[in-house]
Amino acid sequence: MSTSVITNQATLDAPPPTCPVETPTISLFSSNSTTVSVNLDVQAPFPAIRALFDYLHAHPEEVQNLNATYPRRGVMKTAALHKTQSDQKFTIDLSPVRTSRIPDTLRDRLSPHGFDDVLCFFDTLAAQYVPTILSSLSILAGTDLSSAHTSYNMNYRLCDYHPRTAAPESLNGCGAHTDYGTFSIIFQDGTSGLELEETPGMWVPVPGDATVILTGWCAVILSGGRLSAARHRVRRTPGVRRLSAVLFVAPDLEVKLKPLPGVQPSRAFSDTIMRGDLGVETFKEIMGKRWRWREGNEEMDDGGSMSQDSEVEKMVWG
Ligand SMILES: [Fe+2]
Repeated sequence: MSTSVITNQATLDAPPPTCPVETPTISLFSSNSTTVSVNLDVQAPFPAIRALFDYLHAHPEEVQNLNATYPRRGVMKTAALHKTQSDQKFTIDLSPVRTSRIPDTLRDRLSPHGFDDVLCFFDTLAAQYVPTILSSLSILAGTDLSSAHTSYNMNYRLCDYHPRTAAPESLNGCGAHTDYGTFSIIFQDGTSGLELEETPGMWVPVPGDATVILTGWCAVILSGGRLSAARHRVRRTPGVRRLSAVLFVAPDLEVKLKPLPGVQPSRAFSDTIMRGDLGVETFKEIMGKRWRWREGNEEMDDGGSMSQDSEVEKMVWG
């Protein structure tokens, strides 16, 4: 697979830097996938993220109130409190749809505990960087990805790899997987743990202070394989807390997942993909079932015997 670097347009057009502090750093993490470290102007508000988790850990009734606003999937996931085999982490999903359902009374109680700062961060990030990153990815993909991303299908996720879970000695923070969408921007609090699979079974640690852009399955399919996706995981260090903030960007739900017009696939895709039989919404449902199982929030008919990636590989490749 080709090696690629993503940067933003401002960086591409910028004159030679005069001040090292202001130089955007772009480093390739993986030689076989579209994965880069970027230096963005916006920083994740980790004190606010920590305050929000601390408040909700201490107030389970508020977790219930929050989850009642989105009963289908919930907002804060706490399976790690009682499941030892699932990912040992807590998550808060604040997609724009979820956030719009939170009543003012609850929001007023959460606001002093970092909630507004967190939302402001994600909204700023989405407005400032999502179109630019899509443009840069379009250059690498050789096709205009923005036509499949008109509705800003995004999810804002906070992760708390807290030491106190059902399996405090477990090293499993987040099991190996490939993201389903187009790309994800991962902010970390300085604590290591994120790893990329360089070759099957060979895991490369990502520095804990790096901001990373990872491409996902939808980018692979829409680009006809010109963009590649990195499997990744998070390893815990027992007793050490780690926080991260992730912005997920996916194609519009009604988009059919096949190589975009004008793209010459770099490898053979399945008939299902080439016919355009697989829509983003269906794909997300299939992938979502696997990741919710891994995170301890849903049971699987097959007991979870097949990994998230092996199932999707069967679906995608010819
Ligand atoms: Fe991921």
